[in-house]
Amino acid sequence: MNVLVVGSGGREHAIAWKLLQSPNVKTVICAPGNGGTATLKHCQNVAIAVDDFTGIAQACTDHKADFVVVGPEVPLAMGLADFLAERSIPVFGPKKAGAMIEASKAWAKALMDEAGVPTAASGTFTDPQAAKDYIQKQGAPIVVKADSLAAGKGVIVADSLGEAIAAVDKLWEQGYDTLVVEEFLLGQEVSVLALCDGKTIRPLLPSQDHKQIGEGDTGENTGGMGVYAPTPLAPPEVMAQVQTEVLEATLKTLQARSIDYRGILYAGLMISPEGVVKVLEFNCRFGDPETQAVLPLLETPLDEVLLACINQTLNDLPPLQWYDGSAVCVVAASAGYPGPYDKGKAITGLKEAESLKATIFHAGTKLEGETLVTNGGRVLGVTCLGKTFDEAIANVYDAMPSIKFDGIYYRRDIGHRLKKA
Ligand code: AMP
Ligand code: GLY
Repeated sequence: MNVLVVGSGGREHAIAWKLLQSPNVKTVICAPGNGGTATLKHCQNVAIAVDDFTGIAQACTDHKADFVVVGPEVPLAMGLADFLAERSIPVFGPKKAGAMIEASKAWAKALMDEAGVPTAASGTFTDPQAAKDYIQKQGAPIVVKADSLAAGKGVIVADSLGEAIAAVDKLWEQGYDTLVVEEFLLGQEVSVLALCDGKTIRPLLPSQDHKQIGEGDTGENTGGMGVYAPTPLAPPEVMAQVQTEVLEATLKTLQARSIDYRGILYAGLMISPEGVVKVLEFNCRFGDPETQAVLPLLETPLDEVLLACINQTLNDLPPLQWYDGSAVCVVAASAGYPGPYDKGKAITGLKEAESLKATIFHAGTKLEGETLVTNGGRVLGVTCLGKTFDEAIANVYDAMPSIKFDGIYYRRDIGHRLKKA
Protein backbone atom coordinates (compact mmCIF):
# COMPACT_ATOMS: atom_id res chain seq x y z
CA MET A 1 0.00 0.00 0.00
CA ASN A 2 0.96 3.66 -0.33
CA VAL A 3 0.78 6.14 2.53
CA LEU A 4 0.89 9.94 2.40
CA VAL A 5 2.55 11.62 5.40
CA VAL A 6 1.84 15.32 5.99
CA GLY A 7 4.66 17.37 7.54
CA SER A 8 8.35 18.14 7.26
CA GLY A 9 9.97 17.43 10.63
CA GLY A 10 11.95 14.68 12.30
CA ARG A 11 8.67 13.18 13.49
CA GLU A 12 7.45 12.77 9.91
CA HIS A 13 10.79 11.27 8.81
CA ALA A 14 10.49 8.75 11.65
CA ILE A 15 6.88 7.92 10.69
CA ALA A 16 7.85 7.46 7.02
CA TRP A 17 10.89 5.33 7.98
CA LYS A 18 8.88 3.10 10.30
CA LEU A 19 6.04 2.68 7.77
CA LEU A 20 8.57 1.57 5.14
CA GLN A 21 9.81 -1.22 7.43
CA SER A 22 6.41 -2.86 7.04
CA PRO A 23 6.13 -5.50 4.31
CA ASN A 24 2.72 -4.05 3.45
CA VAL A 25 3.96 -0.54 2.61
CA LYS A 26 5.27 0.02 -0.91
CA THR A 27 5.69 3.80 -1.07
CA VAL A 28 5.49 6.76 1.28
CA ILE A 29 4.73 10.19 -0.11
CA CYS A 30 5.70 13.15 2.09
CA ALA A 31 4.01 16.53 1.78
CA PRO A 32 6.32 18.41 1.83
CA GLY A 33 8.94 16.24 3.64
CA ASN A 34 12.58 17.22 4.12
CA GLY A 35 16.12 16.27 3.06
CA GLY A 36 15.82 12.99 4.97
CA THR A 37 12.59 11.83 3.40
CA ALA A 38 13.93 12.95 -0.01
CA THR A 39 16.77 10.44 0.30
CA LEU A 40 14.83 7.63 2.01
CA LYS A 41 14.36 4.59 -0.25
CA HIS A 42 10.77 4.17 -1.51
CA CYS A 43 9.88 7.61 -0.17
CA GLN A 44 9.07 10.60 -2.32
CA ASN A 45 8.55 14.25 -1.44
CA VAL A 46 5.82 16.34 -3.07
CA ALA A 47 6.14 20.12 -2.81
CA ILE A 48 2.75 20.64 -1.15
CA ALA A 49 2.38 22.74 2.00
CA VAL A 50 0.67 21.25 5.06
CA ASP A 51 -2.19 23.78 4.79
CA ASP A 52 -2.83 23.13 1.07
CA PHE A 53 -5.76 20.80 1.64
CA THR A 54 -6.75 20.60 -2.04
CA GLY A 55 -3.16 19.84 -3.01
CA ILE A 56 -2.92 17.07 -0.40
CA ALA A 57 -6.20 15.47 -1.56
CA GLN A 58 -5.00 15.67 -5.18
CA ALA A 59 -1.65 14.06 -4.23
CA CYS A 60 -3.61 11.20 -2.61
CA THR A 61 -5.34 10.57 -5.93
CA ASP A 62 -2.18 11.03 -8.03
CA HIS A 63 -0.12 8.67 -5.88
CA LYS A 64 -2.93 6.22 -5.04
CA ALA A 65 -2.48 6.76 -1.29
CA ASP A 66 -4.40 4.26 0.80
CA PHE A 67 -4.38 6.54 3.82
CA VAL A 68 -2.92 9.76 5.20
CA VAL A 69 -0.99 10.36 8.44
CA VAL A 70 -1.03 13.98 9.61
CA GLY A 71 2.07 14.89 11.62
CA PRO A 72 1.72 18.51 12.81
CA GLU A 73 -1.04 20.12 14.85
CA VAL A 74 -1.62 23.16 12.63
CA PRO A 75 -3.33 21.35 9.71
CA LEU A 76 -5.33 19.22 12.19
CA ALA A 77 -6.56 22.36 13.98
CA MET A 78 -7.44 23.83 10.59
CA GLY A 79 -9.59 20.79 9.74
CA LEU A 80 -7.43 18.72 7.37
CA ALA A 81 -8.85 15.45 8.74
CA ASP A 82 -12.40 16.73 8.17
CA PHE A 83 -11.52 17.80 4.61
CA LEU A 84 -10.01 14.40 3.72
CA ALA A 85 -12.78 12.40 5.43
CA GLU A 86 -15.39 14.34 3.43
CA ARG A 87 -13.59 13.09 0.30
CA SER A 88 -13.53 9.48 1.62
CA ILE A 89 -9.74 9.53 2.11
CA PRO A 90 -8.87 7.54 5.26
CA VAL A 91 -6.88 9.68 7.67
CA PHE A 92 -4.94 9.17 10.91
CA GLY A 93 -5.38 12.31 12.99
CA PRO A 94 -8.38 13.86 14.74
CA LYS A 95 -10.86 16.19 13.12
CA LYS A 96 -10.97 19.88 13.98
CA ALA A 97 -13.31 19.31 16.93
CA GLY A 98 -10.87 16.85 18.53
CA ALA A 99 -7.78 18.93 17.70
CA MET A 100 -9.23 21.62 20.00
CA ILE A 101 -7.63 19.63 22.82
CA GLU A 102 -4.31 21.12 21.68
CA ALA A 103 -5.48 24.23 19.83
CA SER A 104 -7.12 25.76 22.91
CA LYS A 105 -5.66 25.32 26.38
CA ALA A 106 -8.86 26.79 27.89
CA TRP A 107 -10.94 24.21 26.02
CA ALA A 108 -8.61 21.42 27.19
CA LYS A 109 -8.79 22.67 30.79
CA ALA A 110 -12.60 22.73 30.71
CA LEU A 111 -12.62 19.20 29.27
CA MET A 112 -10.24 17.98 31.99
CA ASP A 113 -12.45 19.52 34.67
CA GLU A 114 -15.52 17.82 33.21
CA ALA A 115 -13.67 14.50 32.89
CA GLY A 116 -12.17 14.71 36.39
CA VAL A 117 -8.66 14.42 34.91
CA PRO A 118 -6.02 15.49 37.45
CA THR A 119 -4.41 18.75 36.32
CA ALA A 120 -3.00 22.00 37.73
CA ALA A 121 -5.54 24.42 39.25
CA SER A 122 -6.09 27.26 36.78
CA GLY A 123 -8.14 30.23 35.66
CA THR A 124 -9.01 31.32 32.12
CA PHE A 125 -9.09 35.06 31.41
CA THR A 126 -10.13 37.32 28.56
CA ASP A 127 -9.31 40.43 30.59
CA PRO A 128 -5.62 41.02 31.43
CA GLN A 129 -6.45 42.80 34.69
CA ALA A 130 -8.48 39.83 35.89
CA ALA A 131 -5.50 37.58 35.06
CA LYS A 132 -3.21 39.85 37.08
CA ASP A 133 -5.62 39.90 40.03
CA TYR A 134 -5.67 36.10 40.01
CA ILE A 135 -1.84 36.00 39.89
CA GLN A 136 -1.64 38.39 42.88
CA LYS A 137 -4.01 36.16 44.81
CA GLN A 138 -2.20 32.90 43.97
CA GLY A 139 1.40 34.09 44.28
CA ALA A 140 4.51 32.86 42.48
CA PRO A 141 5.86 30.64 41.03
CA ILE A 142 2.99 30.48 38.55
CA VAL A 143 2.55 29.67 34.86
CA VAL A 144 1.01 31.96 32.23
CA LYS A 145 -0.13 30.40 28.94
CA ALA A 146 -1.54 31.77 25.70
CA ASP A 147 -4.77 29.93 24.92
CA SER A 148 -4.01 29.18 21.27
CA LEU A 149 -1.32 27.35 19.30
CA ALA A 150 1.93 29.23 19.78
CA ALA A 151 4.56 26.70 18.62
CA GLY A 152 5.85 26.26 22.17
CA LYS A 153 6.39 29.99 22.66
CA GLY A 154 3.18 30.80 24.50
CA VAL A 155 4.08 29.37 27.92
CA ILE A 156 5.92 31.39 30.56
CA VAL A 157 6.92 29.74 33.81
CA ALA A 158 7.25 32.78 36.11
CA ASP A 159 9.34 32.57 39.27
CA SER A 160 8.16 35.93 40.62
CA LEU A 161 4.94 37.97 40.65
CA GLY A 162 6.63 40.66 38.54
CA GLU A 163 7.62 38.14 35.90
CA ALA A 164 4.08 36.72 35.81
CA ILE A 165 2.48 40.17 35.43
CA ALA A 166 5.00 41.01 32.67
CA ALA A 167 4.11 37.71 30.96
CA VAL A 168 0.43 38.71 30.89
CA ASP A 169 1.33 42.05 29.29
CA LYS A 170 3.70 40.43 26.79
CA LEU A 171 1.21 37.80 25.62
CA TRP A 172 -1.60 40.39 25.50
CA GLU A 173 0.54 42.73 23.38
CA GLN A 174 1.33 39.84 21.06
CA GLY A 175 -2.41 39.60 20.38
CA TYR A 176 -3.35 36.57 22.50
CA ASP A 177 -6.79 37.50 23.81
CA THR A 178 -7.36 34.51 26.08
CA LEU A 179 -4.86 33.50 28.75
CA VAL A 180 -4.71 30.52 31.07
CA VAL A 181 -2.96 31.07 34.40
CA GLU A 182 -1.97 27.86 36.08
CA GLU A 183 -0.55 26.50 39.30
CA PHE A 184 3.18 25.70 39.03
CA LEU A 185 3.81 21.98 39.24
CA LEU A 186 7.08 20.51 40.37
CA GLY A 187 8.35 17.13 39.25
CA GLN A 188 9.41 15.05 36.29
CA GLU A 189 7.78 15.50 32.90
CA VAL A 190 6.72 12.37 31.04
CA SER A 191 5.14 12.15 27.58
CA VAL A 192 2.52 9.47 26.99
CA LEU A 193 1.45 9.16 23.37
CA ALA A 194 -1.74 7.10 23.17
CA LEU A 195 -3.38 5.50 20.15
CA CYS A 196 -7.09 6.20 19.94
CA ASP A 197 -9.76 4.94 17.53
CA GLY A 198 -12.66 6.80 19.12
CA LYS A 199 -13.70 3.76 21.18
CA THR A 200 -10.45 2.35 22.61
CA ILE A 201 -7.34 4.14 23.82
CA ARG A 202 -3.94 2.50 24.37
CA PRO A 203 -0.63 4.05 25.35
CA LEU A 204 2.67 3.66 23.51
CA LEU A 205 5.81 3.44 25.68
CA PRO A 206 6.27 6.50 27.94
CA SER A 207 9.17 8.82 27.15
CA GLN A 208 10.90 11.86 28.61
CA ASP A 209 11.62 14.94 26.48
CA HIS A 210 14.11 17.71 27.32
CA LYS A 211 12.47 20.99 26.38
CA GLN A 212 15.11 23.50 27.40
CA ILE A 213 18.05 24.50 25.22
CA GLY A 214 20.73 24.38 27.91
CA GLU A 215 22.29 21.50 29.79
CA GLY A 216 20.87 20.95 33.26
CA ASP A 217 17.47 22.14 31.89
CA THR A 218 18.39 25.79 31.67
CA GLY A 219 17.56 28.54 29.22
CA GLU A 220 14.72 28.95 26.78
CA ASN A 221 12.13 26.34 25.90
CA THR A 222 12.53 24.69 22.50
CA GLY A 223 10.57 22.18 20.48
CA GLY A 224 12.55 19.47 22.30
CA MET A 225 16.30 18.79 22.44
CA GLY A 226 16.32 15.08 23.09
CA VAL A 227 14.31 12.21 24.47
CA TYR A 228 14.63 8.69 25.75
CA ALA A 229 12.14 5.83 25.96
CA PRO A 230 10.83 3.99 27.79
CA THR A 231 11.11 6.02 30.97
CA PRO A 232 11.03 4.16 34.30
CA LEU A 233 9.52 7.34 35.75
CA ALA A 234 6.19 5.91 34.59
CA PRO A 235 6.30 2.28 35.81
CA PRO A 236 3.35 -0.10 35.19
CA GLU A 237 1.37 1.08 38.24
CA VAL A 238 1.65 4.71 37.11
CA MET A 239 0.72 3.75 33.55
CA ALA A 240 -2.34 1.90 34.88
CA GLN A 241 -3.40 5.07 36.67
CA VAL A 242 -2.76 7.16 33.53
CA GLN A 243 -4.86 4.70 31.54
CA THR A 244 -7.96 5.05 33.72
CA GLU A 245 -7.69 8.56 35.20
CA VAL A 246 -6.29 10.35 32.16
CA LEU A 247 -6.73 8.45 28.90
CA GLU A 248 -10.04 6.66 29.42
CA ALA A 249 -11.57 9.58 31.34
CA THR A 250 -10.66 11.95 28.51
CA LEU A 251 -11.93 9.61 25.81
CA LYS A 252 -15.25 9.20 27.66
CA THR A 253 -15.72 12.96 27.79
CA LEU A 254 -14.78 13.36 24.11
CA GLN A 255 -17.39 10.72 23.31
CA ALA A 256 -19.98 12.53 25.46
CA ARG A 257 -19.31 15.57 23.28
CA SER A 258 -19.80 13.41 20.13
CA ILE A 259 -16.15 13.87 19.16
CA ASP A 260 -14.91 10.90 17.12
CA TYR A 261 -11.19 11.02 18.00
CA ARG A 262 -8.97 8.84 15.80
CA GLY A 263 -5.27 9.53 16.06
CA ILE A 264 -2.74 10.17 18.80
CA LEU A 265 -3.77 11.70 22.10
CA TYR A 266 -0.52 12.94 23.63
CA ALA A 267 -0.67 13.55 27.37
CA GLY A 268 2.13 15.73 28.72
CA LEU A 269 2.34 14.70 32.39
CA MET A 270 4.04 16.04 35.47
CA ILE A 271 4.83 13.39 38.08
CA SER A 272 5.51 14.96 41.47
CA PRO A 273 8.25 13.73 43.80
CA GLU A 274 5.45 12.05 45.78
CA GLY A 275 4.25 10.25 42.64
CA VAL A 276 1.15 12.36 41.99
CA VAL A 277 0.32 12.47 38.26
CA LYS A 278 -1.16 15.61 36.70
CA VAL A 279 -1.70 16.58 33.07
CA LEU A 280 0.25 19.65 31.91
CA GLU A 281 -1.17 19.63 28.41
CA PHE A 282 -2.71 17.51 25.71
CA ASN A 283 -1.53 17.41 22.11
CA CYS A 284 -3.49 16.01 19.20
CA ARG A 285 -0.53 14.38 17.40
CA PHE A 286 2.69 12.42 17.75
CA GLY A 287 5.33 14.26 19.81
CA ASP A 288 8.50 15.59 18.26
CA PRO A 289 11.15 14.31 19.16
CA GLU A 290 9.32 11.61 21.21
CA THR A 291 8.37 9.81 17.98
CA GLN A 292 12.05 9.55 17.00
CA ALA A 293 12.73 7.47 20.14
CA VAL A 294 9.42 5.60 20.52
CA LEU A 295 8.89 4.36 16.95
CA PRO A 296 12.36 2.78 16.60
CA LEU A 297 11.37 0.56 19.56
CA LEU A 298 8.08 -0.55 17.98
CA GLU A 299 8.20 -3.95 16.36
CA THR A 300 4.53 -4.25 15.33
CA PRO A 301 4.16 -2.91 11.76
CA LEU A 302 3.15 0.75 12.06
CA ASP A 303 0.62 0.61 9.21
CA GLU A 304 -1.33 -2.08 11.09
CA VAL A 305 -1.40 0.09 14.21
CA LEU A 306 -2.49 3.26 12.42
CA LEU A 307 -5.10 1.44 10.34
CA ALA A 308 -6.57 -0.08 13.50
CA CYS A 309 -7.19 3.48 14.72
CA ILE A 310 -8.66 4.60 11.42
CA ASN A 311 -10.90 1.49 11.15
CA GLN A 312 -11.89 1.43 14.84
CA THR A 313 -10.39 -2.03 15.41
CA LEU A 314 -7.83 -1.06 18.04
CA ASN A 315 -9.50 -3.31 20.59
CA ASP A 316 -8.86 -6.32 18.31
CA LEU A 317 -5.20 -5.49 17.70
CA PRO A 318 -2.87 -7.89 19.56
CA PRO A 319 -0.66 -6.26 22.21
CA LEU A 320 2.02 -4.09 20.62
CA GLN A 321 5.45 -5.72 20.30
CA TRP A 322 8.44 -3.69 21.50
CA TYR A 323 12.20 -4.05 21.29
CA ASP A 324 13.42 -5.13 24.73
CA GLY A 325 15.69 -2.18 25.46
CA SER A 326 15.94 1.60 25.30
CA ALA A 327 16.15 4.30 22.68
CA VAL A 328 17.75 7.72 23.01
CA CYS A 329 17.37 10.54 20.50
CA VAL A 330 19.69 13.57 20.67
CA VAL A 331 18.73 16.64 18.64
CA ALA A 332 21.47 18.52 16.77
CA ALA A 333 20.49 22.18 16.41
CA SER A 334 21.77 25.28 14.61
CA ALA A 335 23.76 27.82 16.66
CA GLY A 336 21.35 30.44 17.99
CA TYR A 337 18.25 28.20 18.13
CA PRO A 338 15.60 28.79 19.57
CA GLY A 339 16.47 32.37 18.62
CA PRO A 340 17.60 33.44 15.13
CA TYR A 341 20.01 31.10 13.32
CA ASP A 342 21.72 30.71 9.95
CA LYS A 343 20.65 28.19 7.33
CA GLY A 344 22.45 26.59 4.40
CA LYS A 345 25.39 25.02 6.29
CA ALA A 346 26.74 21.84 4.69
CA ILE A 347 26.16 18.70 6.80
CA THR A 348 28.73 15.86 6.78
CA GLY A 349 29.46 12.67 8.67
CA LEU A 350 26.02 11.03 8.54
CA LYS A 351 27.36 7.80 7.00
CA GLU A 352 29.99 7.55 9.75
CA ALA A 353 27.35 8.07 12.43
CA GLU A 354 25.13 5.45 10.79
CA SER A 355 28.03 3.01 10.77
CA LEU A 356 28.14 3.58 14.55
CA LYS A 357 24.57 2.20 14.82
CA ALA A 358 22.79 5.58 14.72
CA THR A 359 19.53 6.15 12.87
CA ILE A 360 19.36 9.74 11.72
CA PHE A 361 16.05 11.53 11.39
CA HIS A 362 16.19 14.81 9.53
CA ALA A 363 14.20 17.81 10.76
CA GLY A 364 15.61 21.05 9.33
CA THR A 365 17.55 19.86 6.31
CA LYS A 366 17.25 20.15 2.56
CA LEU A 367 19.11 18.95 -0.49
CA GLU A 368 20.85 21.65 -2.51
CA GLY A 369 21.81 19.74 -5.60
CA GLU A 370 23.77 16.84 -4.15
CA THR A 371 24.66 18.64 -0.92
CA LEU A 372 22.67 18.25 2.28
CA VAL A 373 22.41 21.58 4.10
CA THR A 374 20.82 22.89 7.30
CA ASN A 375 17.39 24.42 6.82
CA GLY A 376 15.98 24.90 10.32
CA GLY A 377 16.67 25.31 14.03
CA ARG A 378 16.41 21.66 14.93
CA VAL A 379 18.44 20.01 12.17
CA LEU A 380 18.75 16.30 12.98
CA GLY A 381 17.51 13.79 15.54
CA VAL A 382 20.08 11.05 16.12
CA THR A 383 18.65 7.87 17.64
CA CYS A 384 20.46 4.85 19.04
CA LEU A 385 19.07 1.74 20.66
CA GLY A 386 20.69 -0.21 23.46
CA LYS A 387 19.87 -3.26 25.50
CA THR A 388 19.90 -0.90 28.48
CA PHE A 389 19.40 2.85 28.90
CA ASP A 390 23.14 3.30 29.63
CA GLU A 391 24.08 1.41 26.48
CA ALA A 392 21.73 3.52 24.35
CA ILE A 393 23.20 6.72 25.84
CA ALA A 394 26.76 5.50 25.23
CA ASN A 395 25.90 4.57 21.64
CA VAL A 396 24.34 7.92 20.80
CA TYR A 397 27.15 9.98 22.30
CA ASP A 398 29.69 7.80 20.44
CA ALA A 399 27.96 8.64 17.18
CA MET A 400 27.36 12.38 17.69
CA PRO A 401 30.94 13.65 17.14
CA SER A 402 30.93 12.23 13.58
CA ILE A 403 28.19 14.63 12.56
CA LYS A 404 29.43 18.04 11.54
CA PHE A 405 28.01 21.35 10.36
CA ASP A 406 29.01 24.89 11.08
CA GLY A 407 27.52 25.90 14.44
CA ILE A 408 26.27 22.43 15.50
CA TYR A 409 24.91 22.39 19.06
CA TYR A 410 23.50 19.49 21.03
CA ARG A 411 22.93 18.74 24.67
CA ARG A 412 25.42 16.33 26.23
CA ASP A 413 23.12 15.44 29.12
CA ILE A 414 20.04 13.80 27.64
CA GLY A 415 18.63 11.47 30.29
CA HIS A 416 20.31 13.29 33.18
CA ARG A 417 17.05 13.59 35.13
CA LEU A 418 16.71 9.83 35.15
CA LYS A 419 20.07 9.57 36.85
CA LYS A 420 18.83 11.98 39.54
CA ALA A 421 15.45 10.31 40.01
P1 AMP B 1 2.85 23.19 27.64
O1 AMP B 1 2.93 23.70 26.24
O2 AMP B 1 1.59 23.53 28.33
O3 AMP B 1 3.27 21.76 27.78
O4 AMP B 1 4.05 23.95 28.42
C1 AMP B 1 5.39 23.93 27.93
C2 AMP B 1 6.33 23.58 29.04
O5 AMP B 1 6.20 24.53 30.11
C3 AMP B 1 6.06 22.23 29.68
O6 AMP B 1 6.66 21.21 28.98
C4 AMP B 1 6.64 22.43 31.06
O7 AMP B 1 8.05 22.29 31.02
C5 AMP B 1 6.32 23.87 31.37
N1 AMP B 1 5.03 23.96 32.09
C6 AMP B 1 3.80 24.09 31.56
N2 AMP B 1 2.85 24.11 32.51
C7 AMP B 1 3.49 24.00 33.69
C8 AMP B 1 3.07 23.94 35.06
N3 AMP B 1 1.78 24.06 35.39
N4 AMP B 1 4.02 23.81 36.00
C9 AMP B 1 5.32 23.71 35.68
N5 AMP B 1 5.79 23.76 34.42
C10 AMP B 1 4.90 23.89 33.42
N1 GLY C 1 8.03 17.24 22.37
C1 GLY C 1 7.02 18.17 22.61
C2 GLY C 1 5.95 18.19 21.63
O1 GLY C 1 5.91 17.45 20.68
O2 GLY C 1 5.03 18.99 21.82
